[in-house]
Amino acid sequence: MAAQKQIVLRTEHLKAFYILEVQGTQKTVKAVNDVDLQIYEDEIYGIAGESGCGKTTLLKTLFNEVVPPLRLIDGKLYYRIGAQETDVTNMSAEEKRKLRMEYIAYIPQGSMSVFNPVLKIKGTYEDFIGSHVSGQSRAEIFQTAHKRILELGLPKNVLDVYPHQLSGGMRQRVTIALASSLNPRIMIGDEPTTALDVVVQRGVIQMLKDIQKSLKNTIILVTHDMGVHANVADRIGIMYAGKIVEEATTEQIFAEPVHPYTQFLINSLPKFGDKSVRTSVPGSPPSLADLPSGCPFHPRCPHVKDICRQQMPDFTQLDKDHKVACWLVGEGQHG
Ligand SMILES: Nc1ncnc2c1ncn2[C@@H]1O[C@H](COP(=O)(O)OP(=O)(O)O)[C@@H](O)[C@H]1O
Ligand code: SF4
Ligand SMILES: [Mg+2]
Repeated sequence: MAAQKQIVLRTEHLKAFYILEVQGTQKTVKAVNDVDLQIYEDEIYGIAGESGCGKTTLLKTLFNEVVPPLRLIDGKLYYRIGAQETDVTNMSAEEKRKLRMEYIAYIPQGSMSVFNPVLKIKGTYEDFIGSHVSGQSRAEIFQTAHKRILELGLPKNVLDVYPHQLSGGMRQRVTIALASSLNPRIMIGDEPTTALDVVVQRGVIQMLKDIQKSLKNTIILVTHDMGVHANVADRIGIMYAGKIVEEATTEQIFAEPVHPYTQFLINSLPKFGDKSVRTSVPGSPPSLADLPSGCPFHPRCPHVKDICRQQMPDFTQLDKDHKVACWLVGEGQHG
């Protein structure tokens, strides 16, 4: 189904590294390391992986927000703007600014950082929308904001309070409403439900689903919480050490995970009625500044073979939506 939809965002061999000077020596943190993505219109694409694997950095790179010490090392990033696919990697700051909010919007980790603490919520709306859409009067901005707030079932007076007066869950919902107010084609969410309790989480997830359904846009959602992915994502990319190592529909990822790392992620989840001990991923994630050779999962992998230590496997396409980078599958199909 996804294959018939149009691609709204695409990357080719995207690499974005942090280049740091540590005690006179250069340190390179390979946070986004050769990522190929094809994200479709009208879908929720989930990205999952352990803390520190590069999820936030990947989102920043997809948002075209690569600022030192992060550097775009290689690869391409394309947005489909109008009928055309545009390479946005070399856009000027002004061109990028024009796309923000209207074409692509970012919901950062931690809603408090979005709001100016000394302004009422409507002040932040005016700043955000006003800086992206020239020529709109304050009254028009307020109207746009108010309309979306009401559509999403948030309290009417929410624009007239200060950020600290809202609960964490409400602040997060207001942040999402703000990000969606100019009907962006793509919304990027970084752990929007983390740190919220389960009941509040459900409200935030439902809101994301409602927005996606009504705008028929694309949401790229990062969370390490596989339960959230199960609930919202149409497709999932599993990220490990700066790479996407498996990608499939949500059903496939949960029912038939193929990459050993994905299998650990799925098997570590509690299952209803099953009291057996869950196994978490053995060992710890590698340092992205000092990656193991070959497949970066090899030091933790129970199925490791000699070739795994020497060479990173290419993707093997298992079916139209399912691909995996692991030497265990599809040998001979690798490039
Ligand atoms: N501003 C930064 N400067 C240097 N290294 C960073 C910076 N932000 C993140 N990193 C490093 O990049 C790697 C990936 O981080 P991040 O993208 O935040 O991962 P995740 O979101 O999956 O937890 C980590 O090793 C982290 O320490
Ligand atoms: S390529 Fe080898 S080490 Fe990597 S996940 Fe597959 S079997 Fe394990
Ligand atoms: Mg993060």
